[in-house]
Amino acid sequence: MTQDAPWWKSGIIYQIYPRSFQDSTGSGMGDLNGITSRLPHVADLGADAIWISPIYPSPMKDGGYDISDYTGIEPLFGTLDDFDRLTDEAHRLGLKVLLDFVPAHSSDEHPWFQDSRSARDSGKRDWYIWHDAAPDGGPPNNWISEFGGPAWTWDDTTGQYYLHIYAREQPALNWRNPDVADAMLKAMETWYERGVDGFRVDAVEHLTPDARLRDNPTNPDWHPKDGPARSLFRTFTSHQADLFAHVRAMRSVAEKHGRKLLVGEAYGNLDEVMLYYGANLDGFQLPFNFELINAPWHPRGIADFIDRYEAVIPPGGWPNWVLGNHDRDRIATRVGNGQSRVAKMLLLTLRGTPTMWQGDEIGMLNEAVPDHMLQDPWAINNPGTGIGRDPVRVPLPWDDTHGRGFTTGQPFLPLSTVPSVAEQDGDPASMLSFVRALIALRRAEPALSFGSYERLHADNGVLAYARTAEGKRLAVALNFTDAPQPLPVRGKVLLSTIHDRDLAAVDELRPDEGVILEP
Ligand code: GLC
Repeated sequence: MTQDAPWWKSGIIYQIYPRSFQDSTGSGMGDLNGITSRLPHVADLGADAIWISPIYPSPMKDGGYDISDYTGIEPLFGTLDDFDRLTDEAHRLGLKVLLDFVPAHSSDEHPWFQDSRSARDSGKRDWYIWHDAAPDGGPPNNWISEFGGPAWTWDDTTGQYYLHIYAREQPALNWRNPDVADAMLKAMETWYERGVDGFRVDAVEHLTPDARLRDNPTNPDWHPKDGPARSLFRTFTSHQADLFAHVRAMRSVAEKHGRKLLVGEAYGNLDEVMLYYGANLDGFQLPFNFELINAPWHPRGIADFIDRYEAVIPPGGWPNWVLGNHDRDRIATRVGNGQSRVAKMLLLTLRGTPTMWQGDEIGMLNEAVPDHMLQDPWAINNPGTGIGRDPVRVPLPWDDTHGRGFTTGQPFLPLSTVPSVAEQDGDPASMLSFVRALIALRRAEPALSFGSYERLHADNGVLAYARTAEGKRLAVALNFTDAPQPLPVRGKVLLSTIHDRDLAAVDELRPDEGVILEP
């Protein structure tokens, strides 16, 4: 299978959040030319593809996930010419380019919505989801926005409510109207024709909320720290049966343009996530597997999940793993700096395509963001709760000049406190050097990318597994604790998370140590 496998099976995807990657103009916010100038960093790391969070025209009420033109470029980020240069440079460096596609909602400033809200008989009225008030004048049902508050906003002009699963500035598109589906698929085609290699498809579980608008049931185990939206189960807003036809349609457009890659974002349980592969593997090639983001940091629990996941992937389907993204706590904050090396070894040696979040390669942390700098509507709608995603989205620190090499202006979010890329580069003890070495080993050893997976050991301290391909077997042993642990499998050690480790003398796992070895 290694011979003609598509690139993404052995590939590593690197997520770029354009606002925080590199500013080239002094605006304080990142942009496309900034990304282009930093592509060598991604290529040197050993990644195979970049996925860029939305770069389309946007009022930026949700960091670009509120789109007012699906085929343009946000002027803050640059121009279509800048985008073409970015793509050319990425391809020259051997990197594929994946864009973010946000099908479930547009911005309220999209001309389609402006038209839709102008009159009940507008030709675009049915492109969004409008409904009369409940008899008491309130919203049509009990659905709660993912960012808190009702999922419905009253519009005076036409005297109806419109649905928005996220912010009120993100009205839900009505995919049951074939014209909407057509227009959105055409937008995808435009980008394929411009040379993109695929998409990460955003919040796709929300594509076709229940047509009968039934109330969602209450969640008896809800805790306020999870945010208001989790107080209800998403029974009638997520994973509705008729959305999968649209997933298949996206896939056939992708195939038509030369086997482009679709990565799907659909938060759900294992059975729900599996649906997105499609009954005949005609859905997304990679429906995101978010377990490592959610799971308690415990070797036995993670080992059990790996077994369950491996067991339910449909025949011919390919696994994938994610450790962090622009929506979730930084891994180094969640599990600590020492364990975050172990976590990266896990991410990059499990069977399946890994997606890396920008800055995790240098151990970036959640950073404190003062109220006056908050950008995230989720944080702004839930003051005083600590909820919000700005802390994981602060700019990458490239060097130690003013603005840490990110900007010559005033950064739109506070600067990171971790050692910069420049400082870590060439320091053999740094996180960056470790991640580069780990990826280099992964690229050199087919067992680590294509190999079969076999659990060797899992207890309260250590997880160990074997990966085998082309007759070669490697083992990975990970100490999830800050105490020494017995090494459950012996052999020639090829890499340790501890940089100055004498690899010939590893007879136990040190605190926070992971090793890759040849038994
Ligand atoms: C996805 C994105 C998130 C965004 C939401 C609405 O979950 O990852 O950042 O807020 O969709 O588009």
